[in-house]
Amino acid sequence: MNSIYKRKVVTLGQFIIERQADFPYAKGELSRLLRDIGIAAKIVNREVNKAGLADILGDMGSSNVQGEEQKKLDVFANEQFISALSSGGECCAVASEENEEMVPISTEVAKNAKYVVCIDPLDGSSNIDVNVSIGTIFSIYRRTTLTGAIQESDFLQKGTEQVAAGYIIFGSSTMLVYTTGKGVNGFTLDPSIGEFCLSHPDMRIPSTGKIYSINEGNYVHFPEGVKQYLKYCQAEDAATKRPYSSRYIGSLVADFHRNLLKGGIYMYPATAKSPKGKLRLLYECNPLAWIIEQAGGKASDGSTRILELQPSSLHQRTPLFIGSTEMVAQVEEYISRFSHK
Ligand code: AHG
Ligand code: MN
Ligand code: MN
Repeated sequence: MNSIYKRKVVTLGQFIIERQADFPYAKGELSRLLRDIGIAAKIVNREVNKAGLADILGDMGSSNVQGEEQKKLDVFANEQFISALSSGGECCAVASEENEEMVPISTEVAKNAKYVVCIDPLDGSSNIDVNVSIGTIFSIYRRTTLTGAIQESDFLQKGTEQVAAGYIIFGSSTMLVYTTGKGVNGFTLDPSIGEFCLSHPDMRIPSTGKIYSINEGNYVHFPEGVKQYLKYCQAEDAATKRPYSSRYIGSLVADFHRNLLKGGIYMYPATAKSPKGKLRLLYECNPLAWIIEQAGGKASDGSTRILELQPSSLHQRTPLFIGSTEMVAQVEEYISRFSHK
């Protein structure tokens, strides 16, 4: 038979159901939660694709043809995800970059919901207006309080407690990548059928790479160990294929996704301006840290495994070094060597 007939398209929905035996808890619930996120992702994708038409169809902040106010895309994305999670009935509260406080979900269907979701609804939002890749990052936990009103403490769990985590990248194609702790799988949206289809099964990051990603404009403010590691990346050495290439998009999801596929390291250190780093632990660093570990890579704050940091607030920041295991281990080594100088 011609191989084209043997090729099987596996949609995200089919895959989630086939793999739900892997889930540690009530299986249908987490499946439905992931499905709801997939649906919201498609709606956000539709709007992201129209972003360049904003000036023709009406500026963000102005009224659209129905007289409704046009929303900024990050606010729109936030509302879409919260709305999908509210109607699904599996999520009892959301912690989002766009909301100062957690958002409890009080719909009737959600009264016995067991999961909380942390989300960066639109990551890399400064890249929207210039047609550069942006994304969404999410992380799912079981609530720790078993009954009663949802508490902030339900969100303040270490990354090791995540039950699912993923991201959506709105790039040259739209992809959804997620893990439930049994490896990492990537799905590409086929717009002609409106389905995410399995395109990158069992993703693995190479143990080392040739790409380093950092905002070098902040160089003067970097810790000495990071400055020294950058010198190492830029030095010539045929055996280790240096100098490495510098690649920095400024959308964490996009920089992360490229490095996951090709091998490399992404760094956002503490700087004088942001002494705790810039990126958020709950909805940026933890989900990506779990994904990278599940793909064979490593994520650190410079000395400690990201997944073992104990969160104390919803919007807590942390330095982040994430990517190929050997590269992250090496920058940790530089940081420790120069930390007292
Ligand atoms: P967000 O758009 O969700 O606020 O996140 C922006 C983040 C991240 O996507 C990116 O890697 C980083 O900010 C870029 O920061 P700099 O512009 O300081 O390099
Ligand atoms: Mn972000
Ligand atoms: Mn954001």
